Amino acid sequence: MLSIIVPTYNERDNVEELIRRISKSLRGLDYEVVVVDDNSPDGTAELAEKLSGEFPVKVIRRPGKLGLATAVLEGVRKSVGEYVVVMDADLQHPPEIIPKMYEYALNGYDLVIASRYVSGGSVSGWSFVRKSISRSATLIAKLLIPKVRSVKDPLSGFFMFRKEVLKDVNLNPRGFKILIELLVRGNYVGVYEVPYKFNVRSKGKSKLSIKELVNYVLHLITLSPYTTLIKFLSVGASGTVVNLGVLYLLRYVLDLKHVVASAIAIEASVINNYLLHEQWTFRERRGGNWLYRLIKFHMTTSLAITMQYMTSQILYYWLGFESLISQLTGILLGFIINYLLSSRYVWSRR
Ligand code: GDD
Ligand code: MN
Repeated sequence: MLSIIVPTYNERDNVEELIRRISKSLRGLDYEVVVVDDNSPDGTAELAEKLSGEFPVKVIRRPGKLGLATAVLEGVRKSVGEYVVVMDADLQHPPEIIPKMYEYALNGYDLVIASRYVSGGSVSGWSFVRKSISRSATLIAKLLIPKVRSVKDPLSGFFMFRKEVLKDVNLNPRGFKILIELLVRGNYVGVYEVPYKFNVRSKGKSKLSIKELVNYVLHLITLSPYTTLIKFLSVGASGTVVNLGVLYLLRYVLDLKHVVASAIAIEASVINNYLLHEQWTFRERRGGNWLYRLIKFHMTTSLAITMQYMTSQILYYWLGFESLISQLTGILLGFIINYLLSSRYVWSRR
């Protein structure tokens, strides 16, 4: 049996046509449609319930807008099919290709993705900006997560999988991108991408917001095998901003001497980085005396800065490198030293 999970939020104008088209496409197959509605004010759930008289539709109502990913998972949990399809309600995903996806699934592909980015697939009606966002988001995913690199459209919201894939898997649903979660944590053999044309949304509005985009990047960071490194880098970048900001304040607002202002600014950035590493980068590795770690972090940071300075001088004066290149090499080396010492010594796993 095939279960089709359709998360909805304010899709009253789309849900009827969607269900009619699904039923037409799947004629002769054993299937159910599971609508997971987050208490849409427009009455989507009521309409879906009415349709359940005529079609094999099951409606799950949740008390409020709890998010797309959790809606999908709830639908999967309450479905009975051996295979599951996840698709949007807004008719941007054509149900007509489900039989073809099913064919691949039955031929041994545990995960079949409806893809905009394999040959034959396309996107219609998107502005240049919307297209660029989608492309960049896909690129970032591939950069941060090796497991999705072989997939052309890891952000697709339209896919089919064998339910076994999720057996005993701990998912951490967040935001919009449930497929990436599945690609990283699921137990599957074989992935196939079937091309489709992502249609223009004719009715209602997209629920994708800036908040979802930020959420998306944070989600990728937690799924990435390079989590700690990425966090460490981000904290380093924030430290630089603090460093310069404090310096500006002390120099130009409080009119302190550079020699004093500079020292205080450096200390401020070290403390900033320490706090963020405690609270975020190495949060799980705290324990014992925080003061001890604060002192250790000052030591490793000083060492890193010293090494950075020495490398830069040696490259410039002894080996004749250009000034910026010497300095940059020093920065890189300093970063590596600081990262290794922080993760193995200051916040060591025990
Ligand atoms: N239950 C529930 N709760 N459903 C939701 C929620 C929610 O909080 N937010 C959105 N939905 C439903 C919508 O009603 C729709 O059926 C589907 O999820 C997709 O929402 P859209 O707002 O249409 O998203 P989109 O078109 O911008 O994004 C789609 O395409 C992307 C590809 O670029 C989604 O499929 C994304 O997952 C996909 O990455
Ligand atoms: Mn949509």
